[in-house]
Amino acid sequence: MLAEPDVGPALPMLSTDPLTRAAPWWQAKPASRLVIGGGKPLVGSYPVSGAKNAVLPLLVAALLTPERVTLRNAPASLDVAVLAALLRRLGAELTWSEGEAGLSVEIVAERIHAAHVARDLVARMRASVLLLSVLLVRCGEAGLPLPGGDAIGRRGIDFHVDGLVKMGAEIDIEDSAIYATAPNGLHGAEIELPFPSVGATENLMIAAVGATGRSVIRNAAREPEIDDLAHFLIGMGARIGGIGSSTLTIEPAPRLAGTTHDVVPDRIEMGTLACAAALTDGELHLVNGRLDLLGGAAEILRAAGVELEPVAGGVIARRAPGGLRAVDVLTAPFPGFATDLQAPTMALLCAAPGTSRIEEAIFEQRFRHADQLGLMGADIAIAGNVATIRGGRLRGAAVAGTDVRATAALVIAALAAEGTSEVGGIDHLDRGYDGMQEKLRRCGADIVRVFAE
Ligand code: EPU
Repeated sequence: MLAEPDVGPALPMLSTDPLTRAAPWWQAKPASRLVIGGGKPLVGSYPVSGAKNAVLPLLVAALLTPERVTLRNAPASLDVAVLAALLRRLGAELTWSEGEAGLSVEIVAERIHAAHVARDLVARMRASVLLLSVLLVRCGEAGLPLPGGDAIGRRGIDFHVDGLVKMGAEIDIEDSAIYATAPNGLHGAEIELPFPSVGATENLMIAAVGATGRSVIRNAAREPEIDDLAHFLIGMGARIGGIGSSTLTIEPAPRLAGTTHDVVPDRIEMGTLACAAALTDGELHLVNGRLDLLGGAAEILRAAGVELEPVAGGVIARRAPGGLRAVDVLTAPFPGFATDLQAPTMALLCAAPGTSRIEEAIFEQRFRHADQLGLMGADIAIAGNVATIRGGRLRGAAVAGTDVRATAALVIAALAAEGTSEVGGIDHLDRGYDGMQEKLRRCGADIVRVFAE
């Protein structure tokens, strides 16, 4: 048996009942690990799911209207099940179905009560902070435990709070909880974000659509998930200008209507699997993948030896004929290199001859995968927010991930490593990736899930 690495305390197990009631497709996989036999090239079709970071704000924004909202191509991941349970506790009804457009959910939020936001669920997920805006719009008040999320560093909510205050909300933070009221409703405002925060842009967009009067959000985030939310809100009747730019102008809808929306494909899943194809020297057809969603990351991955070929309905990813190459990476807001691709790219660069450098500029503590990759033989030196990676060979080891992307990085490293690995922290992987293990197995991976006795 391989030794258990020390990766800090785990979150207590969450009772699965509220999750399976809210999202019946969710199957709890407690205390599991993946045992991965490395060295087999990944070959075949890998369907890219709807984006986790798009569907979460869309699910929240669905509560803006009492009418029926349908979201198609939703990823079947743990974060979606947790948010579904939260919405259900607030009074929404959710009905799931499986069809040609993947997993779909119908949400009807006829009556919403602000009083029942549960700490056990909110503590699991950063995106729960988006409930602030929708509850202010629907109920005129909100009380939320401070949100949780990944162990990747300090994650303030000051931009969310300051923006909502500009729109007329009164907000107090006390005893790890946040209380907000807007008895007379929210009004439009001109807001300049200090940093293009994804979550703050989403929260303020949702608030602006339910406010009175026009809002302008400057220095807004430009991630594809923001565009997806904007198109969804337009489907509900809002008017939004400047989509894809740093300045969004939002005219609320006189009446917010139900709508049907396809969730944008997951660019991070696509990028992670492109790294895996190149790392294992295989070839993956990333079905539904879209290169435009990768922004500047496509160019950097290509420079690192990941061939990315757009084809009808997707992208083919393989190792470039010249092999993997060392590169320098700087994470940045979109269209810069996504911080969520930093860990999988580090796994890739561990096998690229030469010296690579990764600077993590978005989150303070997002290198916790580096020492785990070190257990697999990687040569990585960390100084502050810069990682220096000397490429070499990876070998199997017992490792564990501490956040969604770190765990994905360890899985793809294990797929390429010599020998067998055991990857723990799989509950993190389940939070963000829909059926990764099964999808990998269909592409030839030697991967099984084992459960603790
Ligand atoms: N920030 C503040 N104050 C705020 C908001 C943000 O200081 O009020 C800081 C954060 O501390 C961080 C930076 O701004 O240093 C960027 O944070 P941002 O608000 O953009 O991130 P987020 O909305 O919390 C989303 C994704 C993350 C992704 C980041 C950056 C969701 C649910 N989460 O987080 O995804 O890394 O944007 O692109 O959309 C993941 O999927 O693994 C993940 C962590």
